[in-house]
Amino acid sequence: MTTQSLAESADKTSASSTPLTRDGFTTGLGVLAATLGSAVGLGNIWKFPALTGMNGGAAFLLVYLLCTLLVGLPVMIAEQMIGRTARADAIRTFRKLAPNSRFPWWITGVMGFAAAFLIMGFYTEVAGWVFAYVVKAASGEILTTDAAVTSQAFVDLISNPTLSLLIQWGILILIGAIAMLGVSKGIERTTKRLMPVLFGLLVLVGVRSLTLPGAGEGLAFLFKPDFSAITGEVVLVAMGLAFFKLSLGMGTMVTYGSYFRDDQNIPVTATRVMLADLTVSLLAGIAIFPAVFAFGVAPEVGPSLLFITIPTVFASMPMGNVFMVVFFILSSIAAIGAMLSLLEVPVAILNEQFSLSRRNATLITLVALALVGSLAALSNSVTADITLFGKNAFDLYDFLTSNILLPLGGLMIAVFVGWVWGFKKMKAALSNNGVLHNDGVITAVFLLVKFVAPVLILIIMLNGLGLF
Ligand code: TRP
Repeated sequence: MTTQSLAESADKTSASSTPLTRDGFTTGLGVLAATLGSAVGLGNIWKFPALTGMNGGAAFLLVYLLCTLLVGLPVMIAEQMIGRTARADAIRTFRKLAPNSRFPWWITGVMGFAAAFLIMGFYTEVAGWVFAYVVKAASGEILTTDAAVTSQAFVDLISNPTLSLLIQWGILILIGAIAMLGVSKGIERTTKRLMPVLFGLLVLVGVRSLTLPGAGEGLAFLFKPDFSAITGEVVLVAMGLAFFKLSLGMGTMVTYGSYFRDDQNIPVTATRVMLADLTVSLLAGIAIFPAVFAFGVAPEVGPSLLFITIPTVFASMPMGNVFMVVFFILSSIAAIGAMLSLLEVPVAILNEQFSLSRRNATLITLVALALVGSLAALSNSVTADITLFGKNAFDLYDFLTSNILLPLGGLMIAVFVGWVWGFKKMKAALSNNGVLHNDGVITAVFLLVKFVAPVLILIIMLNGLGLF
């Protein structure tokens, strides 16, 4: 029997054998749905196409792939592993695993706590736009090939302060309500139902886009590299995207790992999540770029690609109105699972570290998020002039997290696991205490976590921020 089939049969046979004092995911499939639900999100549908379009297409994709394999995957395994071993929130995990360390490793958890608020600050707003666009698409308001009209519709939405706040708070209430149901009844159940729907819808839209006349140019943009566009900054953006995409560097995967079952095969789970997430990104790219080129729209418009360009693309294809509604529904679905996982980091910390009930922890987090988030929600209207380093709150939250906090968090986790925790404990954790015979995998992961990931993160960060 291979390691994989062994773990799978273990998943199936002992579904209810672990007594759970702490809430957690109940089945192997549930773990996969929730973890994949965290990774797949607006990062695939909004960020990935926008950044790929802005940074030259295939060459960027290749750098992103390398960052995902050499840094993202090992950091994800490391996070899930320490989370499951400690069975605690993102701050207590480090306290429990390194009680006598001179360096305060728990700061990694505190940084994650802060990053969760900053990411949710802008993420809830983009999610709000996506939800609003389901309605806009259904009403036919944006069903036009005139980019001036779709652009005006987007500007009208984002520069309306009352509406921006209302949709953001609406999103927060929705996510909060699911989170209050708990880990297994809220997060696991929701993501298990929604993830298959998401895949199905995305394939449908992708096939439609690929069968358009002239789709080939878009595919070439996505898959034929031109390396002249690659600079140190672009590499940092690609690595930031790898962290953002796989929900790494801020304790999300530590927290979710703490809900994993003991018999879960972590390297296999992480690899599956990485591959499935990549598939969704590529499907989103395949849905978007052929259509963009077929209709002669510029691929490099950036963050507004999803809201200004995409509607014109849909408007110019047969049955475009139906596909557009479907597309924004699937984007909304993707956003929900991701936001649940972002919320879970502060909720778990307040719940366990500060002994608040899950309900109160969620309520407090939501109120704080509404405050932090409103700065981003209003950044195209009331607070547009409040800037730091020339960036408004929305852009600043995005930049600070993807380019600094997440890579730094990932660096600390990799160094902690590789150099403080060490090979022996890691081997016990990844082999499920000797049950799995996966020595080769463990050695490879260890080398990546101890040497490759930290060195790459350091070089890419310093170079990308212009420090050397
Ligand atoms: N991965 C999600 C996306 O692509 C976003 C996300 C969820 C995230 N949890 C995270 C990003 C934790 C960074 C850290 O949309």
